[in-house]
Amino acid sequence: MLVDSHCHLTDPRFEADRRGVLFRALAAGVERILVVASNGADALSVTGLLDEVEGMAEVPRLWGTAGVHPHEAGGAKEEDLSVIRELARDHPRVVAVGETGLDFHYEHSPRAVQESLFRRHMALAEELGLPVVVHSRDADEATARILLEGGTRVRGVLHCFTGGEALMDTALDLGWMVSFTGIITFKSYGSRDLVRSVPGDRLMVETDAPYLAPAPHRGRRNEPAFVSRVAEELAVIRGEDLNEVMGYTTGNAVCFFDLTS
Ligand code: NI
Repeated sequence: MLVDSHCHLTDPRFEADRRGVLFRALAAGVERILVVASNGADALSVTGLLDEVEGMAEVPRLWGTAGVHPHEAGGAKEEDLSVIRELARDHPRVVAVGETGLDFHYEHSPRAVQESLFRRHMALAEELGLPVVVHSRDADEATARILLEGGTRVRGVLHCFTGGEALMDTALDLGWMVSFTGIITFKSYGSRDLVRSVPGDRLMVETDAPYLAPAPHRGRRNEPAFVSRVAEELAVIRGEDLNEVMGYTTGNAVCFFDLTS
């Protein structure tokens, strides 16, 4: 059994064949999926999808998140944050706040706006006792600073981890999780030592679909069925047995996000 701990199934690129994508995921052993929201309207789409497939046979069990991606921070309004708060508090299958965080690589939104929204997501996660899903790209120092402000009152995951050792150490010291995508399967991937250094009880796997398809699918649309490639690569890099990697990454995701109901 595998968990795709982060994907964007509400993305328009899944519009034509979303049900087929879900069938293929389950056929590939992906029994549970966390569907991650990118903004207020998307959080409503995510919960719409969760409600639509609930109890349906032949598809994985889905849970979701509510939050504003740093790319979209500049366009977020107070109404969006109200929607996110309500869904995170009241929807039974919304199990985390996010994704939020900082992206100073693309910088689609002003840095100060990203930071302020990230802090609000952290505060909401703390208030509701939910984990927070964090995206950080080329923003190690600022991300570490905001994690430290939350202290051990907030627990979260650094998803699609591409940062350096200092940020990873800060996160691990605070009890956070680290999650990897298909990026670790790319020939150009240069941080295999960091992948080896994460304790097994802090690791999760994800696709971030439709983005970041792992080799040999690189460049095409990604989908949750391909999370097995990420687990395979983790096993190779860490010199571990694949079944063992599948076992502990699945256990970590189920436990961390409480993917049980
Ligand atoms: Ni994402």
